[in-house]
Amino acid sequence: MEPQVFRIAIDGPAGAGKSTIARRVAKGLGFVYVDTGAMYRAMALLCLRKGIRPEDAQAVSQAAGAAQITISYIAGEQRVLLDGEDVSGQIRTEEVGNMASAISAYPAVRAHLLGLQRSLAARSSVIMDGRDIGTCVLPDAEAKVFLTASPQVRAMRRFKELKEKGEMCNLQEIEQDIIERDQRDMNRAASPLKQAEDAVLVDGSHMGIDQVVAAVIDVAVSRGLKVDSGVWK
Ligand code: DC
Repeated sequence: MEPQVFRIAIDGPAGAGKSTIARRVAKGLGFVYVDTGAMYRAMALLCLRKGIRPEDAQAVSQAAGAAQITISYIAGEQRVLLDGEDVSGQIRTEEVGNMASAISAYPAVRAHLLGLQRSLAARSSVIMDGRDIGTCVLPDAEAKVFLTASPQVRAMRRFKELKEKGEMCNLQEIEQDIIERDQRDMNRAASPLKQAEDAVLVDGSHMGIDQVVAAVIDVAVSRGLKVDSGVWK
């Protein structure tokens, strides 16, 4: 028999705080957090390593089709493996993020990751974040949230993050990058970034992390999740 699972889909633009929120919600509810962006990033890393240009649809699709992307969990944290190598640390750069945004427009790349994403959600209760979770990957998810924030707020958060890591950065450039990434993610033909009709919009521009976490849990509860002292029953 299929296990009884509850699925929370959380979509939204780059830098809206999806992963921070999803990780916290997962911990609070005892759910598995699935970061689908990391899978696209692993594909992007592969293309960068092979020197494939993002415009080369055939080469990208071929490389993606042959790549083995797998997910494992170490101490509850998602690790992404590319052909058996743990690349979780190497995918967190702006270069990889931009490449991921470019190559995720190709249907072959998306098709290759869809099965993996759905199989993870079939096994256990998940909160899955991405761009097309509520619209395409898990259209029947019990709860859907579209988390956004203004480009200025997202750019400022990213700027502070990079500064803390001691990386050189420029606020205007980061904001421009975010706007361009939004445009690419929203305007592609294959599974564009879009709020699902039954998703609840949460604008976190002027909300703290705890408030957004509470808002997401409220959505899940309003869609039938039973919680007892923060733990899913
Ligand atoms: O969330 P992120 O920044 O790690 O995602 C990187 C890119 O991957 C994003 O710009 C678009 C793509 N992506 C996607 O197309 N669909 C998803 N479900 C997740 C990410």
